[in-house]
Amino acid sequence: MTSAWRATVLTLFPEMFPGPLAHSIAGKALAHQKWCLDAINIRDFAKDKHNTVDDTPYGGGAGLVMMADVVHGALCAAETLYEGKASPQYIYVTPRGAPLTQAIVRTLSQNPSGIVVLCGRYEGVDDRLVEYWREEKGLIEISLGDYVLSGGEMAALTLIDACVRLLPGVLIKEEAKTSESFELDLLEFSQYSKPRIWQNKVVPEVLLSGDHSKIAAWRQKSAEQITKERRPDIWKAYDNQRASTKRTQSGKGGSFAAKGD
Ligand code: ADE
Repeated sequence: MTSAWRATVLTLFPEMFPGPLAHSIAGKALAHQKWCLDAINIRDFAKDKHNTVDDTPYGGGAGLVMMADVVHGALCAAETLYEGKASPQYIYVTPRGAPLTQAIVRTLSQNPSGIVVLCGRYEGVDDRLVEYWREEKGLIEISLGDYVLSGGEMAALTLIDACVRLLPGVLIKEEAKTSESFELDLLEFSQYSKPRIWQNKVVPEVLLSGDHSKIAAWRQKSAEQITKERRPDIWKAYDNQRASTKRTQSGKGGSFAAKGD
């Protein structure tokens, strides 16, 4: 299917793909052509007979830097895969990037063409390459978190997985995409399954009641409590949002009432 959302990964280790993405939800969707995946070997774009992809950094220091012209060749090859379509989002995964959020994931999953993910190794990529693709093609830099992986491949796998599950027709329950953690600005409520009693721990009675409004209220309370305890930052943002919504609503009602007075 040529119009499917496409992820193209540029890597020195193409054998790492699809890897875990061949399993579970993403794997099923891949098999059903809800999305497609290409792994491009950056080494194929080396310019010399030794297939060199990296060199020592100007200014000295440990490690090697991936060469601009080699990576540029790989990115240009990736670009041809999207010919005749809207520009994909070009992404360089690096600890120097913006922290990945569900909001970014959603935006990426809504790009009609998909994404191109550049994975660095060694000491990263010549910065001029990053700058050029940022200026010319809107490349963004994304970080998975404040820790250093041995390369961008794990980050690319994670990023692609998060995007794919949001593509239309991938999750069976569309509702699950919006009711879970972060989409509603709260962590997810606690879930239980059979048996009703395990290790002397009992499933909350209300969940067995069949009363949907009571269950919804319990789940809301559970989500709020867990968020408050574990992520005060998320709780604060949620609470502020809730307060300002309340103010807007009561503001409207207030002016209506004032007219009648
Ligand atoms: N490459 C190495 N570490 C990384 C991180 N934390 N996020 C994204 N890409 C990376």
